[in-house]
Amino acid sequence: MDRDWELFLLPYNQAVDELKVKLRGLRGMYRLRKEHGPIEFITGRVKPVNSILVKSKARSIPLDKLETEMEDLAGIRIMCPFVEDILQVVGIIKKRKDLNIVYEKDYITNKKDSGYRSYHLICEYPVQLIDEEKVVLVEIQIRTLAMNFWASIEHSLNYKYQGEFPEAIKGRLQKAAESAFQLDEEMSTIREEIKDIQENYRFPD
Ligand code: GTP
Ligand code: MG
Repeated sequence: MDRDWELFLLPYNQAVDELKVKLRGLRGMYRLRKEHGPIEFITGRVKPVNSILVKSKARSIPLDKLETEMEDLAGIRIMCPFVEDILQVVGIIKKRKDLNIVYEKDYITNKKDSGYRSYHLICEYPVQLIDEEKVVLVEIQIRTLAMNFWASIEHSLNYKYQGEFPEAIKGRLQKAAESAFQLDEEMSTIREEIKDIQENYRFPD
């Protein structure tokens, strides 16, 4: 099919740009309140055309069904310092009036066999075009810095090995995922202790 990709992807680019600005704005609001901010940083991307073609072939998604069947044409990633922040961010997003959550995948409670952990929200987001409104799907992935570190390394290796990891590497990645999990646990414990100290600390009279 001969498709005008620039035209087709325009609302997805718009959605990613808008959501990056809107969600990054939350950080400033927390800073102003002098509260712990649950967001460390945010990235976003529109799937490159060659990746769309590869995935549509691999998943047998007809090109005229991309809008409804390829849920990650627009993708936003939110990185949080602590595991506890993830559910806080999910709560904030659920309350928003500018998007609608279609469904969620909790790969934190149910980590994938690869070792992958993250919380995914598949959302409908309305984009205002010149003459109409277009609702597009956006995949929002929410994860800790440690989860992101693991996922980005695993993703590059996956690319290198085309998903066919040698058994030894697969095992090491699973071990690394376990270490990332332990790091998240340890950081949460440290944070709790710091909070206790702060709450119990009284200025001397
Ligand atoms: P895909 O996007 O093709 O994986 O579709 P899916 O329907 O299988 O959805 P899934 O929830 O498994 O994955 C959605 C996205 O999560 C992927 O595009 C990746 O960004 C991320 N993801 C899922 N599993 C893994 C994994 O094992 N490793 C890494 N690095 N990322 C993953
Ligand atoms: Mg997958």
